[in-house]
Amino acid sequence: MELPAVGGSSSRKPSKRVWPVLAAFVFAALYFSIDLPLLSARGSRSHVRIPLHGADTLAKCRSLSVKPAPPPGFSDRTHSDRNEPGTPLVLIRNATIWTGLDNGEDVVHGDILLENGLIKNVGDVNAFKLNMVNVTEINAEGAWVTPGIVDVHSHIAVASSPSLNGANDANSVKGLTLPWLRAVDALNTHDDSYAHSIAGGVTTSLILPGSGDAIGGQAFVIKLRPTSERSTSSLLVDPPYGLNGTAVDYDIPPRWRHMKYACGENPSGAYSVTRMDTVWSYREAYEHARQIKDKQDEYCSKAFADEWEGLGEFPEDLQWEALVDVLRGKVKVQTHCYEAVDFEAFVRLSNEFQFPVAAFHHAHEAYLVPDVLKRAYEHPPAIAMFAAFSRYKREAYRHSEFAPRILNDHGIKVIMKSDHPAIQSRWLLHEAQQAHYYGLPANVSLASVTTNGAELLGLDHRLGYVKEGYDADLVIWDSHPLALGATPVQVFIDGIPQLQASFTKKRDDRQAAPITPSFEKEAEAAVKFVGLPPLEGTPITSGGILFQNISSMWRRDESGVHCVFRTRDIDDEGVVFVEDGEIVCAGTMGTCTSFLGDKGLTVINLEGGSITPALVSAGTSLGLQEIASEASTVDGTVFDPLQGSIPAVLGNGSIIYAVDGLMFGTRDALNAYRSGVSTAITSPISNGLLGGVGTYFSLGAKHKLEDGAVLNDVTAVHVTVAHQDGGPSVSTQIAALRRLLLGPYTGERGASFEAIVKGELPLVVNVKNADIMASLVKLKQEVEAVSGTPIKMTLVGAGEAHLVAAELAAANVGVIVTPPRPFPFTWEGRRILQGPPVTEQSLVTTLFTHGVTVGIGHQGVNEYAPLTGWAARNLRWDAAWAHIDSHGLISMEDALNMASTHVEKLLGVTRKASDSDTVATKGGELLSFEGKVVAVVSPRRNVVDLFE
Ligand SMILES: *[C@@H]1O[C@H](CO)[C@@H](O)[C@H](O)[C@H]1NC(C)=O
Ligand SMILES: *[C@@H]1O[C@H](CO)[C@@H](O)[C@H](O)[C@H]1NC(C)=O
Ligand SMILES: *[C@@H]1O[C@H](CO)[C@@H](O)[C@H](O)[C@H]1NC(C)=O
Ligand SMILES: *[C@@H]1O[C@H](CO)[C@@H](O)[C@H](O)[C@H]1NC(C)=O
Ligand SMILES: *[C@@H]1O[C@H](CO)[C@@H](O)[C@H](O)[C@H]1NC(C)=O
Repeated sequence: MELPAVGGSSSRKPSKRVWPVLAAFVFAALYFSIDLPLLSARGSRSHVRIPLHGADTLAKCRSLSVKPAPPPGFSDRTHSDRNEPGTPLVLIRNATIWTGLDNGEDVVHGDILLENGLIKNVGDVNAFKLNMVNVTEINAEGAWVTPGIVDVHSHIAVASSPSLNGANDANSVKGLTLPWLRAVDALNTHDDSYAHSIAGGVTTSLILPGSGDAIGGQAFVIKLRPTSERSTSSLLVDPPYGLNGTAVDYDIPPRWRHMKYACGENPSGAYSVTRMDTVWSYREAYEHARQIKDKQDEYCSKAFADEWEGLGEFPEDLQWEALVDVLRGKVKVQTHCYEAVDFEAFVRLSNEFQFPVAAFHHAHEAYLVPDVLKRAYEHPPAIAMFAAFSRYKREAYRHSEFAPRILNDHGIKVIMKSDHPAIQSRWLLHEAQQAHYYGLPANVSLASVTTNGAELLGLDHRLGYVKEGYDADLVIWDSHPLALGATPVQVFIDGIPQLQASFTKKRDDRQAAPITPSFEKEAEAAVKFVGLPPLEGTPITSGGILFQNISSMWRRDESGVHCVFRTRDIDDEGVVFVEDGEIVCAGTMGTCTSFLGDKGLTVINLEGGSITPALVSAGTSLGLQEIASEASTVDGTVFDPLQGSIPAVLGNGSIIYAVDGLMFGTRDALNAYRSGVSTAITSPISNGLLGGVGTYFSLGAKHKLEDGAVLNDVTAVHVTVAHQDGGPSVSTQIAALRRLLLGPYTGERGASFEAIVKGELPLVVNVKNADIMASLVKLKQEVEAVSGTPIKMTLVGAGEAHLVAAELAAANVGVIVTPPRPFPFTWEGRRILQGPPVTEQSLVTTLFTHGVTVGIGHQGVNEYAPLTGWAARNLRWDAAWAHIDSHGLISMEDALNMASTHVEKLLGVTRKASDSDTVATKGGELLSFEGKVVAVVSPRRNVVDLFE
């Protein structure tokens, strides 16, 4: 090994790896064996000199074509590079382990040993009866264990929560293509999201720059647990060599890198350009990178041929090196792209410049164009998507909840992702659950948030499986992970338990995957109608309908929702007979026979399904918009009397009525209707103090003039009190509210506030912060002291309401929680209660146990998708989740009330309960993953809408 003396490669680091050293030796030997004889034979050829760092240069040249791979010998490791010394061994006994192997079909009943940050052993109980000391032993009692959830699309730490101007680092505005930016340089270590996401079982996330740029920069994989070093770099998983200034060892394969791209609306919007400009910006950048790559290749072929003469420096450019690596196939291209036009442009780019696309993210139209995806260079991209979050912008208008199953049927890799905080990654598993409900097979659904994600990140050699030698990232679940409300009992990252205490435990009745309905026809229609299948039901306006084979039934009267019967034994099958849109008989076949007339009879077998009062949506702008970010599809925003002048034509003391702007038949409304939400309460869209007057209407109606379309023109007055960037102070807003309440009363606005003070109309306040809630309670008391009459006050939003639960109950203030499971989006709403497994009670449970009247609103309230109605369809599951999270405190009846009668009462609905709508579900209950809505019975509209 006398080579160093000649070749000057003494700076090369010694390596433990066997094969690269051998390869390097063979290559170097080859090279020098040509040169050495020349040297000795013709000592005069001293001008053909290898430069001082020639061997390094050659090593670099050789490495150019080496594809990323785990370091040699990786599978033999005994310690994780992320191991925290002193971590006790963990032995999980008696688990039901979904390993991720065998296409997601492999389930092992047994034990798991975690040591040195790795999974040491899986399955063989007896093998673990060792003389182990300092072992934390956990008896899983047969509970499900899965690999930690992998989120391939997160903005944790670059778009932090609570959102503050000082920590908003997701999008640079310095140019359309910025491949040199690195998310790692902006990772906020104080994001509240870390703990929040871990509580949902998320262990690993790909942190991407935002989507404002065509190329937004490099993304990095992190694990979410706190590290003893508290640094950003200690969060990283397999960071690219050289990131922290350590010299790169060119003799071992590189690690995967990630680059964020965005097509379509977002870069167009951020830079006021067209799609054509964005695609040109790609081509221009790629052409530049290609030229550098060609120069490098030319340089290296000369170096390999020993033509050092005048070769100069290796051609490199720090700004473009990452894009050159993309062209060399060493970077996972992660592209935010929604529409057919954008996929096609990007696929064209991938073929023009010959680089593979790892995944299209969001990709709401991917299910419509599988053949376009299959034309991408080398392999079709995986599709990383949402389950139901859609229609917040035009590109997401043709979204289908059946996209995951359709893509899977086409052999495309399906991954569910959060885009945290758009969907909070804590609930990423719920995305997989919804995909499963709409038809994605169970094995693929679980893989979509574990193994498939690990593979997309190029980390399936250490993440995404419960397998010996893999990172010790695991979740023990209280339920089957595809069961609604499944919650971690414990989460391990690098073998370290992440939950201090766990306020949930194995739930024996929830250990099987739900048996979900069939949606074959619906999925076909989604494709056939290019994403816009007709959503209206088939109206039956005459004749009788007999629903039979019913296993449970709830009805409502003036006092609320009541269970009529609920049985698992449906031998004595229940029937419900409906005529002229009204239930005329409910009971057994024997009791109802006499009611069946001889008019035409439609018989519907509910196969053990259910009859349930319809749910009521609140807290979104359902009925006032179709696509939130397209102004021409939205009712618009009201004038705020506190912030600007009101046009004179509106008159002094004007107030706006939501009913005047109502639009019917929006896709969000119809999807909600098909999910058992038959009515909604909506208030005017506002970004100031005074919203206006709400209205109560039917989601299944075709237009406002139809019978039963509008059920209450006027419901309540809606206002917002919040900390505003540049707006009037909170104290100013409270002062204005005091003035509005105490008079003098001017115009219609005055009349509305006078009605509030007389207790005739509720005052509904959008509020997040507990201190503001306290001010509102004081204001209420102040006004009541003057008037002598109780005011009806309701808080909406109310993420911090648990801090004043007893006081709200005492003041008789009701609460509608939106979103139903709170998240610290803002500083003023950051003091949330996480709920199980982190705290014993959830926000809803706490309010309920204090005697506050609680209603449940929607998820869609955040800075990315304000007040969009997409989530209304999920009210059934949000209500069920409140019941599940309460561990027995909130009954199914209570949950149904929270999603219907309480919402009506709190928001000022005066319509009588007796003629409210009823929903028939097949196969299971409305508040479950088993039931499918097949009919809505509406006495108000005198119709039964069938959906089968
Ligand atoms: C076991 O843990 C205790 C307390 O952390 C420590 O003092 C002891 O040295 C450990 N024993 C071994 C064998 O590691
Ligand atoms: C594992 O737990 C299940 C459920 O509690 C129990 O039935 C079974 O006996 C346990 N098996 C062992 C080996 O402890
Ligand atoms: C740089 O990163 C490597 C790989 O993660 C690590 O082994 C090394 O200690 C780091 N060096 C410094 C100076 O942080
Ligand atoms: C598991 O996944 C494969 C696709 O990868 C699918 O063909 C198969 O039907 C699935 N198995 C089950 C039981 O759903
Ligand atoms: C009622 O539904 C159950 C569950 O789907 C089914 O097994 C049973 O055959 C049905 N009975 C009748 C009479 O249709």
